[in-house]
Amino acid sequence: MTEAILLVGGKGTRLRPLTVHTPKPMVPAAGVPFLTHQLARARAAGVDHIVLATSYLAEVFEPYFGDGAALGLHIEYVTEEEPLGTGGAIRNVASRLHSAPDDPVLIFNGDILTGLNIRALVQTHQSTSADVSLHLTKVTDPRAYGLVPTDETGRVTAFLEKPQTPEEIVTDQINAGAYVFRRSVIDTIPTGRPVSVERETFPDLLSAGAHLQGMVDSTYWLDLGTPAAFVRGSADLVLGRAPSPAVPGRCGDRLILPTARVAPDAKLAGGTVVGEGAFVAEGARVYGSTILPGAVIEPGAVITDSMIGTRARVGERSILTGTVIGDDATVGAENELTNGARVWCNAQIPARSLRFSPDQ
Ligand code: GDD
Ligand code: MG
Repeated sequence: MTEAILLVGGKGTRLRPLTVHTPKPMVPAAGVPFLTHQLARARAAGVDHIVLATSYLAEVFEPYFGDGAALGLHIEYVTEEEPLGTGGAIRNVASRLHSAPDDPVLIFNGDILTGLNIRALVQTHQSTSADVSLHLTKVTDPRAYGLVPTDETGRVTAFLEKPQTPEEIVTDQINAGAYVFRRSVIDTIPTGRPVSVERETFPDLLSAGAHLQGMVDSTYWLDLGTPAAFVRGSADLVLGRAPSPAVPGRCGDRLILPTARVAPDAKLAGGTVVGEGAFVAEGARVYGSTILPGAVIEPGAVITDSMIGTRARVGERSILTGTVIGDDATVGAENELTNGARVWCNAQIPARSLRFSPDQ
């Protein structure tokens, strides 16, 4: 059995207003807090002990997951008073690990939806006797990520976090946010101050001659750090394109949670999920979107690739495409909101206030 650390302390700034009341890993994807999918996938790969490194809105994790027994896990929680960064967070939970110095410890960013073969990453780590092994994936625009060039054997030659200049874009391979650390390497991270594993630990290890091994795995991979990505990820879970043992129902065009109500002629497709207690009224059409618990979609509204917050309300015949509606917000009737609009929690948009298209 392997143990794992999950980094779940980030502020989720780019996801606001979804993360105003809820830390990113607890925002529902396919009907359950996103973290549930990662925990269930780790369990399925043979992980039994998980330490959650929390900081922002730390208090909400333990009441939900408890000791982890419901997922077949033993979960512990360690909260940073001040955020310690990714490396500091890893070091800060080291005392909770049971592994011996040479044992492999898995570490996951808390916002990645992926079909990664976790066992294969551990096997790569062991067969190459690496100090750290990293899951790598290829993306068309690597600028928002950590760039990880490797040699012909997969050994990491550099780590360039969020490159600023064109010269730094030396590869399309990026850090996919899943690592195996030799336990003793975790103990070398400095304590008591913020440390970035990407900007400090990895470059320092490389210059000290440590063996960092990359494993390119081109399975499904998505960082759910932006609203568009989060909505996409949730829909892909519902559609069965992204693998998770934790989807609460059968995969298909839509997922309607048990206490949700949907009018018979409402149309739901493209991986839409309707959360607990939410209501979709007659004639509404919802595509590829996430309707969080208690939200109300009024008659004839058309919602595409959007996230509707807890208890929010979308008025009659409103058209929302690529938007985020915060918790308890109200969008009045016949509004039109398009790509990237973020309506803040509790905001109230009066009927017929916003348009992005001309009159016919
Ligand atoms: N406990 C704790 N404390 N966790 C933190 C802290 C902290 O101070 N800061 C960030 N985290 C957690 C976040 O909650 C998230 O799960 C993870 O660390 C990564 O932080 P993000 O803010 O999501 O980073 P990113 O997406 O910009 O970049 C990271 O992920 C990319 C892949 O998606 C980096 O690891 C990149 O190198 C990588 O390519
Ligand atoms: Mg991220």
